[in-house]
Amino acid sequence: MDIIEIIEHKRDKKKLSKEEIEYFIKGYVNNEIKDYQASSLLMAIYLNGMEKDEIANLTEAMRVSGEVWDLSCIEGIKVDKHSTGGVGDKVSLILGPMIASLGAKLAKMSGRGLGHTGGTIDKLESIPGFRVNLTKEEFINQVNNVGMAIIGQDKNIDPADKKIYALRDVTGTVSSIPLIASSIMSKKLASGADAILLDVKYGNGAFMKTIDEAKKLATTMVEIGKSLNKDVKAEVTDMNQPLGCAIGNNLEIKEVIDTLKGNGPKDITEICISSGAILLNQAKIFSSINEAREAIKESVKEGKAFKKFVEFVKSQGGDVSYILDPSKFPVAKNIIKVYSLNEGYVHSINALEIGKSSMHLGGGRETLDDVIDMSAGIVLNKKVGDKVYKNELLATLYTNKSEYETIKENVLSSFVIKKERVKEENSLTHEIIE
Ligand code: URA
Repeated sequence: MDIIEIIEHKRDKKKLSKEEIEYFIKGYVNNEIKDYQASSLLMAIYLNGMEKDEIANLTEAMRVSGEVWDLSCIEGIKVDKHSTGGVGDKVSLILGPMIASLGAKLAKMSGRGLGHTGGTIDKLESIPGFRVNLTKEEFINQVNNVGMAIIGQDKNIDPADKKIYALRDVTGTVSSIPLIASSIMSKKLASGADAILLDVKYGNGAFMKTIDEAKKLATTMVEIGKSLNKDVKAEVTDMNQPLGCAIGNNLEIKEVIDTLKGNGPKDITEICISSGAILLNQAKIFSSINEAREAIKESVKEGKAFKKFVEFVKSQGGDVSYILDPSKFPVAKNIIKVYSLNEGYVHSINALEIGKSSMHLGGGRETLDDVIDMSAGIVLNKKVGDKVYKNELLATLYTNKSEYETIKENVLSSFVIKKERVKEENSLTHEIIE
């Protein structure tokens, strides 16, 4: 077998065998296969796709390319949650404490933000002292004792994904369903949870621009889970406007705190309750989704979910005085208000543009080496459906940069305001695939 033959097979739309896929993954991880050969194969996969069993074989080869964590020493069903990424997506940080306060065990590895999307790990690092790199033993102990731990992707897990993802990023091969599905699922399956909930986003702020693409990705990932006997469910959810109101690292942590205290924006509160209820059901703590939803609401009302967040932050070395008094978080020196030019109803807020604007204000990174300004970002004062008067506040920008006029204009033009009312959607969830 040689790599040129494998590339030629995919180029000619042939199905790759399990052995060919394993040969590629092993050879690439061991540096025997060169970047230019791997990029050629990735482009052939991008253009010609893969069949179900090829995707399952690719996922499995990537999963076992490094360490596979065994979490069986943690009592109960370990759950994990993964979002395909969006703008203002701080859901894991809210639903984690919600479900852990009701007895679930959340064992989660997360990524950093890149481009217009934020990353859970960056958000957590805006809490002074917070450690995102626990050892495996510390991780296991914390999930056992606190009920949740969230850490960065361990470097020994799935080295194949690390190399392939970096290469895809610079070769125009990111947005391919077989490649995204195998990338996400191989990491998740190697991290050891028993049940996984995927949040596959669609819309202008997401990887998948349409519902159909998102459904296809969600179904592909659920099928991979089934073929490997894992309980995997996927929600297909709307990312046509940012989630919640805060975008940017410490601004989002403040929104996490508000939401856990019962004072969060409606959309973020609802998606955390609905996803949390599915996870409690997967953890077999509640057999009824409705009962799980009610229990989460009760836990928030009684302050248990917030208390669990404080315990989680403390256990990972974070300074809880910031959580107890969020006014301690640093505030950017420039605070810029964006006002509406006309009256009407907000019909849409371009999540992609808002995400990029937050990045340009300093809240995100364009390349993995950029340093993030934890205090930079945007707070939306209006969401889709809201009534707006002329000269009313639409959004507030936070930055330590002195050049922000173009960003201010971009944020203003991200809002589409029309005379007619907007039909209110009760839920961001379009469908659940299982
Ligand atoms: N997230 C991942 O982990 N991998 C992808 O390919 C896309 C999003």
